[in-house]
Amino acid sequence: MIIANDLETLQNSLLEIAKNGKKIALVPTMGALHTGHASLITQAKEMTDCVVVSIFVNPTQFGKNEDYSIYPRTFDDDVKLAQQSGAEIIYAPTVEDMYTNGFSTIISVGDMGKILCGKFRPSHFDGVATVVTKLLLRIMPHIAIFGMKDYQQLCVIERLVSDLDIPTEIVGAPIIREEDGLALSSRNRYLSPDERKIAPILYKTLQNTAHNLKSNNVSEILAKGIADLTEAGYKVEYLELCDSFTLAPLAEYEEGSRLLVAAWLGKTRLIDNMSVEENND
Ligand code: PAF
Repeated sequence: MIIANDLETLQNSLLEIAKNGKKIALVPTMGALHTGHASLITQAKEMTDCVVVSIFVNPTQFGKNEDYSIYPRTFDDDVKLAQQSGAEIIYAPTVEDMYTNGFSTIISVGDMGKILCGKFRPSHFDGVATVVTKLLLRIMPHIAIFGMKDYQQLCVIERLVSDLDIPTEIVGAPIIREEDGLALSSRNRYLSPDERKIAPILYKTLQNTAHNLKSNNVSEILAKGIADLTEAGYKVEYLELCDSFTLAPLAEYEEGSRLLVAAWLGKTRLIDNMSVEENND
């Protein structure tokens, strides 16, 4: 296992791998790895010869009052989990390595980054798009795998890779859930024991909403979902039905549409999403 903390070490290791004609996968992460990340690494390993896991808590995707300073940093455990799951290289750059002195270019993905989570986290997707573009250009992987829990992030990255002709295949990997339905997230560890008991209601509400959508008035069903979450103790940012490719909001149910939700439980912001068909099939 190689651990590279700077670009030169990373690229020297990648040169060796490329010389041997191996296919490279990137699994970009912010660390605090859990079983969901392990499944991304395993899937990447099945599809390629060499998996690079990047671990970088990217300051530019956090708003001023967000959790950058307290975001969980568990590097030693992350290395163990990445290695056990099949990763060959960890790229864990410093902020200075990623954003050299005078850095000033921002990649912005237009309207898609301004709706849903982008409404509440205005510069978030610019930060994500910029760092992911840099990671893809530094590593030049054949594939890069992103979890579908961050569904809007996946759409933004697919858009930018297509728009900028970046020759990496973007792969979306299924959401991994706890037994009670809560989607795995590094931020779940912020939940108190009482909040943890309430948390799966987010998933149950998505299921109920998806189930009722096909045959009922969409805005009424979404309003009921928001009311159910609010009653359970959530502060809802949005619950919306969207086109699964463009993320445009839909006033009526259409085949291929997706439900997306973001809501606060105490001081923890949780997101989740679900294909309406998957739930009804
Ligand atoms: O999903 C994440 O962990 C981050 O947004 C990513 C893609 C690693 C970019 O910092």
